[in-house]
Amino acid sequence: MNAAKYLHLDQPTVDKAVSLWRSGELVVIPTETVYGLAADATNSAAVAKIYAAKQRPQFNPLIVHVANADAAARFTQWTDEAAILARKFWPGPLTLVLKRHTDCPISDLVSAGGDTLAVRCPEHPIARQLLTAFAGAIAAPSANRSGRISPTTAAHVRSELPDIPVIDGGPCAVGLESTVIDLSGEYPAMLRPGSITRQQIEAALGNKLGEGSDGNIKSPGQLASHYAPSVPVRLNATDVKPGEALLAFGPEIPAAPTMRNLSPSGDLIEAAANLFAHLRALDDGRSHTIAVMPIPQEGVGEAINDRLRRAASPRPDSQ
Ligand code: TXA
Ligand code: MG
Repeated sequence: MNAAKYLHLDQPTVDKAVSLWRSGELVVIPTETVYGLAADATNSAAVAKIYAAKQRPQFNPLIVHVANADAAARFTQWTDEAAILARKFWPGPLTLVLKRHTDCPISDLVSAGGDTLAVRCPEHPIARQLLTAFAGAIAAPSANRSGRISPTTAAHVRSELPDIPVIDGGPCAVGLESTVIDLSGEYPAMLRPGSITRQQIEAALGNKLGEGSDGNIKSPGQLASHYAPSVPVRLNATDVKPGEALLAFGPEIPAAPTMRNLSPSGDLIEAAANLFAHLRALDDGRSHTIAVMPIPQEGVGEAINDRLRRAASPRPDSQ
């Protein structure tokens, strides 16, 4: 598919993507968070192709992308809290987990056999253009192979999934996957931190959020080793040892022969947008370890540290 670097697609490109989706094929699309490996969410065979392309464990459910809150409300048992959060944060990097509507036409594979559905209305203008044209439901996990770093440019996607058409919407502005809030239980709970922070959600709901930790893994994206560069990651580094690459943050950094700075000015939003691209750049086979400077645990820093902890955790299996 022709790469379109603009934030608006021409009609033939939109038509091509929509017709690929209608015929059960995959198309990678840009969103404001990360690129998504997208298929018609009502077509189980198409959804299965997503799992296959990602080599993703079957039990990991997918997010359904919609053009507006009305569509999300049709597929789910919509709640007052969902309405509040959708009104405040959609379109945007927020995913809501709700009980499936009894007549929900979305493939069970998307819910990994469960009775809940994750829905999100993205903000990226190209994603919106495509979702509006498709007028349906698009399942789209991050467009990386399972367990690898989420792609924030079209070039990243092509290196991971060379056989799948990619619509180029430029680098992702947010650069971190969406915040996931579970509204299917007794109390709202945060399943995955993101650029919309716990504080913002709590302020909107007027209530504290739970952790979603009732003993079950509700969001398998939270599995310990999910975001894995090919070399070990050392956290809270204040120095750089021989052979290490440095992932820096802020103006004061130790000397390092190989270094990327998430944000020289110490801006956490900028750091989030750079996180995966910088990890990927440092994971080039020339350093035996990536040393990461401390990142403040405030605002979107919570999400950055969450991803970094996963990147640093031991990898007993190869998921
Ligand atoms: O920003 C994003 O959310 C990106 C872009 C492409 O939209 N998508 C993304 O999808 O990160 P994925 O599949 O890589 O991560 C989806 C997360 C996983 O942690 C998954 O377990 C969780 O959402 N999830 C999906 N459906 C769920 C459900 N029904 N219940 C609980 N967690 C769910
Ligand atoms: Mg992912």
